[in-house]
Amino acid sequence: MSEAVAPSTFVRSLGYGTLHQLADFLDPQDSWKRVLMEIRKPTGEPRYSQLHLRRFEGVVAMGKSPTIALLSDWGTTNCTVGQLVDILVRNQLLAPARLLLPDLAVGIPVVPSPSPGWQETVGLSKQVTVAMGRAEERQLADSTRTQVEDKESPDDRGFHRFSFQELLQMTSNFDDRSASEGGGKLGEGGFGTVYRGNFNKVDVAVKKLNSMDDISPQDLKTQFNQEVQTLRTLKHKNLVEMVGFSCDGDHLCLVYPYMCNGSLLDRLACLGDSLPLSWTRRCLIAAGTARGLEYLHSNHHIHRDVKSANILLDETFEPKISDFGLTRASEKKSASTVLTEKIVGTTAYMAPEALRGEITPKSDVFSFGVVLLEVLSGLPPVDSSRDPQFLMEMKEEIEDEELTLEHFVDKKMGDWGQASVEKMYSVAKDCLSERKNRRPQMEEVLRELENILTTISLDQLSYEKKV
Ligand SMILES: Nc1ncnc2c1ncn2[C@@H]1O[C@H](COP(=O)(O)OP(=O)(O)OP(=O)(O)O)[C@@H](O)[C@H]1O
Ligand SMILES: [Mg+2]
Repeated sequence: MSEAVAPSTFVRSLGYGTLHQLADFLDPQDSWKRVLMEIRKPTGEPRYSQLHLRRFEGVVAMGKSPTIALLSDWGTTNCTVGQLVDILVRNQLLAPARLLLPDLAVGIPVVPSPSPGWQETVGLSKQVTVAMGRAEERQLADSTRTQVEDKESPDDRGFHRFSFQELLQMTSNFDDRSASEGGGKLGEGGFGTVYRGNFNKVDVAVKKLNSMDDISPQDLKTQFNQEVQTLRTLKHKNLVEMVGFSCDGDHLCLVYPYMCNGSLLDRLACLGDSLPLSWTRRCLIAAGTARGLEYLHSNHHIHRDVKSANILLDETFEPKISDFGLTRASEKKSASTVLTEKIVGTTAYMAPEALRGEITPKSDVFSFGVVLLEVLSGLPPVDSSRDPQFLMEMKEEIEDEELTLEHFVDKKMGDWGQASVEKMYSVAKDCLSERKNRRPQMEEVLRELENILTTISLDQLSYEKKV
């Protein structure tokens, strides 16, 4: 925004560009109506009636912006930006509120509740754009562009906006050699390559998104916008944070804090000769991950790519769930079940209904069940030289008593105890129920895993007695 806007600025003094940006946020999903309902006369009565509302709806039919019409009308009363921002914040329309007053980040809830406004998280959901008309889709795309690209201050909303040039310097020109060869490549995933870098003497991980055959540049941009928006909105000890992003070069890039203990997948496999994770540590990691997922679900988000490669471990092995690029904000209604035309995720973790294209938080619960099997056994989720290839199928073998839990458990951990292993297996088994309605909610999973943590010390005592 070029003009200086303060809480005392009159709404009627806002420039056309700013009004247009506000309209990008408030026209989709009729968010302007929520603002309209809250506007009061000095007497405290609502300023606008249902009849007025219909008139503003008529503006939409004429191809004009109802937000701009509303603000122009209300603006005649000498209302201020402060009043408008109050209404926006009360309605959890934080992105347009911060557009007007960027310093607002302090003192307002970061996580919208009880029901997040779509503007905070979408642009983003393919599902929503499918349900909308083409014009609206364009409008939504424009509005997300506004949210991510048109930033003037480098660290607005806590994120640093890097130039591609800076990232080249930070990563030694995206050195593609592995760490053992003196390079900076940390790994490669479905959407790009991750490099180690350094920013202000702090280690960071830079994910450079790559255009691929099976994903259009527009879809990639959508994933990118979604990741940025989601990380803006959702903050939790067990979710990865974001340092910043870059979108000025040939590649879209996302910058995260460097997690020095890598991924749970790599640590379970003891990649690079890392020491095996103890049972106690594994239980803490499982509970921490469940806490992060429970937080996502209670904020109406579905991760959709829960797997051990997306669980990163910091210097104290605190788990941080990463990669929200595939998440979908979900309506509060029945914690949402929506269908997608694109099937995403990794087969070795996918619930039966996810394979059919259905999106529900219960599919995350299923995938987390596979992660628990990995934690218990130390085995990879899929291994083409193994029978069965998919780890999730080992559940049947245990159920049919072809495989005992004792044989299944990872012998690389010395401190495991029968009781806590059985309990974790029982949680995993419930998560892996074929029928989604039989699976527990993440909240129950978390409770069970926290219970296990309280019993572990007893297990350890009996283990110590045995040796
Ligand atoms: N912040 C980070 N700190 C340290 N290592 C990281 C970080 N982010 C990613 N990595 C490493 O880079 C690897 C590749 O990550 P990436 O997210 O691109 O792929 P993935 O998780 O295997 O698959 P997907 O694309 O489905 O998420 C991870 O498995 C992890 O080992
Ligand atoms: Mg990942």
